[in-house]
Amino acid sequence: MGWTGRAPGRVNLIGEHVDYLGGVVLPAAIDRHTTVTGAPAGEWSMESAVPDGLRYARAAGAELGTAPQALRVTSDIPAGAGLSSSAALLVAVAAGLRPDLDGVEAALACQRAEQRATGVQVGVMDQFASALGRRGHALLLDCGTLEHRLVPFPEDLVIAVVDSGIHRSLADTPYNERRREAESGMPRRRRHVESELARVHEFVAALEAGDRSRLGPLLKASHISLRDDFEVSTPAVDALVERAWAAPGCLGARIMGAGFGGSVLALLETGAEGGFGLAMGEAPVWFCRTADGAYRR
Ligand code: GLA
Repeated sequence: MGWTGRAPGRVNLIGEHVDYLGGVVLPAAIDRHTTVTGAPAGEWSMESAVPDGLRYARAAGAELGTAPQALRVTSDIPAGAGLSSSAALLVAVAAGLRPDLDGVEAALACQRAEQRATGVQVGVMDQFASALGRRGHALLLDCGTLEHRLVPFPEDLVIAVVDSGIHRSLADTPYNERRREAESGMPRRRRHVESELARVHEFVAALEAGDRSRLGPLLKASHISLRDDFEVSTPAVDALVERAWAAPGCLGARIMGAGFGGSVLALLETGAEGGFGLAMGEAPVWFCRTADGAYRR
């Protein structure tokens, strides 16, 4: 029997490099999707423009307990640019093959699949956002207890994602090393974690109070902490972030996701998109809105 699964990419508004430490994060599913169609087959195969997709699909199959499938993948999520194309692929496979699962179970299975496929000890943020995000909202997730709730996100704020052009697979970055350093209590890494957790709570409070003047400064402080204390930025990304800070109508910006290249998140007032695109020069910019995750809550 053939099946189809579809899942969104994600942005992370704030709460970076804290998920694997059991911290709180605030991602949102976005209106860019991966769609997978499949049918049982003698062995796993995949037609896709996504590099390495087959490795992920096999790992998802192993975690979901399903037989081999022949898959076709289409996606408008750029790979390697920090929008969690791999989480979207895994969650789309899960949603297609195991729609019976609860969204939390599906997200956890996809996290294990990603770890199995890559050897990178990723946290659970991306898979949760892709499975359980909601249009008009960000998802506040406590990665320690897995408690989560939706936080309304203003309709008139534009989420801009700037591609640094430095695309990398996490396995080739010091991601696992940073995780170990933070887990072992290295002072500068812990300083980032503690200050970032405080920023997540402040960001949520500002959203809930409708005080958007706080959002930009919090994004900026998050960037500085990721740059100086967690050391996951690069000079090229820092330059883009500084251009974003100066762009008219931009509330604030920071490096997003694992880092070591990847992308920059910026929040803009509606109408500022054109000027922001110009300010970013050659770097590709995607303007996103929040969207529904693959699973029902
Ligand atoms: C990647 C991982 C996430 C998270 C971020 C950093 O996106 O997949 O689990 O650790 O990096 O916040």
